[in-house]
Amino acid sequence: MDIKSYLTAKRTLVEEALSSILPESDEHLTTHFEALNYSLRAGGKRIRPILCMAAAEALGGSVAPLMDVPCALECIHTYSLIHDDLPAMDDDELRRGKPTNHTVYGEAEAILAGDGLLTLAFELLSRDNVALLNADVQLKIINLIARAAGSTGMVGGQALDIESENKEITFSTLRLIHSCKTGALITASVQSGALLGGADEDEFLAMTNYGRNIGLAFQIVDDLLNVLGTTEQLGKAAGSDAEHNKATYPAIFGLEATREKAGEAVAVALEALRHFDHKADPLRALAEYIYTRSN
Ligand code: IPE
Ligand code: IPE
Ligand code: MG
Ligand code: MG
Repeated sequence: MDIKSYLTAKRTLVEEALSSILPESDEHLTTHFEALNYSLRAGGKRIRPILCMAAAEALGGSVAPLMDVPCALECIHTYSLIHDDLPAMDDDELRRGKPTNHTVYGEAEAILAGDGLLTLAFELLSRDNVALLNADVQLKIINLIARAAGSTGMVGGQALDIESENKEITFSTLRLIHSCKTGALITASVQSGALLGGADEDEFLAMTNYGRNIGLAFQIVDDLLNVLGTTEQLGKAAGSDAEHNKATYPAIFGLEATREKAGEAVAVALEALRHFDHKADPLRALAEYIYTRSN
């Protein structure tokens, strides 16, 4: 399948839906709304909402009438990037090819833009139109995304990442950092799509296994690109992990073994989809894309 055109078509749907959920401006909150829009409309690969849509489609469902769930995932992800770039965290000046939110609006506004996007996500997830769904499914989706975003998921992974700077850590800690800071939200994207598509228990487990492995592969490749990519190509600072003495796969294993480990995770993800038919081909192609991507 042509993954490039699939990604472009889905990205367009996501961009349109994001534009409709967040007003461009607000009469009284001019700077706050500018800061929210600045990061949310800055582009990005939109991989989490696309995974959610592809997972629903793999089960014969469609999220087109329920774009609040994919949009919520992108809001949480964008908030995590704004906070990740803050001086107290990774202290980065470039994101999605533009100056980082705090560089333009200052730290206080950037923190609040992140807070606003995180909260907006849960407003979207709990809205009535998501309740076109069965209420039990809606509640399950809210719960799994909350757990993935919080202290046992992404936030916890970010905390471990920061606490591990300038330290020798074990491979199992590194794996945990990657699974939490990046893997958790990617897994939740696949899982929420699976629930939207009406997954039964076995299908949900298979999708979870797929999600965990592409989530891990995604962060391993992010580490590799930080070493091998250019700032221009990535739209964010290349080489920053080594500068900050970050715990990464290349730092522990070197480049070649790191690439192999990403490939192994992708192979396990593909194996997890073995019982799905051609409707899961976009998910299969997304796994390959995660491995071969250049930004
Ligand atoms: C970057 O995520 C941060 C990680 C979790 C590795 P993406 O690579 O998905 O960033 P965008 O959304 O495309 O900018
Ligand atoms: C980002 O991890 C993870 C989250 C924002 C949750 P990194 O700090 O490694 O990612 P980049 O390289 O800044 O995008
Ligand atoms: Mg970071
Ligand atoms: Mg960072």
